[in-house]
Amino acid sequence: MIRKVNKSDLPQMLKIWNANYKVLTSSQKKHSIKSLENWYETRTKINHEYFGMLDGKLEYFGTSKGKTLKAFAILKYTKKGLWIKMLATDKHEKGKGYGKALVRFAIKESKDRPLFCECMVNNWESINFFFKFGFKIIRYNKKLEEFVMQYQK
Ligand SMILES: CC(C)(COP(=O)(O)OP(=O)(O)OC[C@H]1O[C@@H](n2cnc3c(N)ncnc32)[C@H](O)[C@@H]1OP(=O)(O)O)[C@@H](O)C(=O)NCCC(=O)NCCS
Repeated sequence: MIRKVNKSDLPQMLKIWNANYKVLTSSQKKHSIKSLENWYETRTKINHEYFGMLDGKLEYFGTSKGKTLKAFAILKYTKKGLWIKMLATDKHEKGKGYGKALVRFAIKESKDRPLFCECMVNNWESINFFFKFGFKIIRYNKKLEEFVMQYQK
């Protein structure tokens, strides 16, 4: 199920982050539990919210239960639309539909607003992943070496 990430989920999120850190930010940021907690505590100031896919049941969206974090998505809410800032699945849990469930959740969450995501230009795995949902590349950020992709509603 999908619910907001709690502070107690952060050690699991840290593991998933650090197994994928090379493709999550252009600065290739590796987290410590302290730096991740710091991000988490300040997330609302920058209009971010953290969502987790827990326990592997794809069929419902929950609010409170769930123990094992399989994947997470950091969403950013802006006036112009919703952004999938980071998305990652536990390396042992890939290919089970968890990433897809989180993208579907973001599509639902975006309602009638535009939905964007960012992918590093050399991260063809995730670019192809987003193509499957109907995202299209709309911009190339040369400085960050990232593509901005938009979901075609
Ligand atoms: C991209 C990522 C989140 C996908 O998560 P996942 O949980 O393994 O993906 P799913 O199991 O939900 O796959 C859903 C669909 O995408 C497809 N897919 C998954 N990885 C893919 C890939 N590398 N290329 C093409 N399609 C892919 C699956 O085949 C599946 O398609 P289907 O439903 O038609 O069978 C995961 O590979 C990951 O953590 N990557 C590293 C971090 C990253 O690059 N994040 C994105 C940029 S922030």
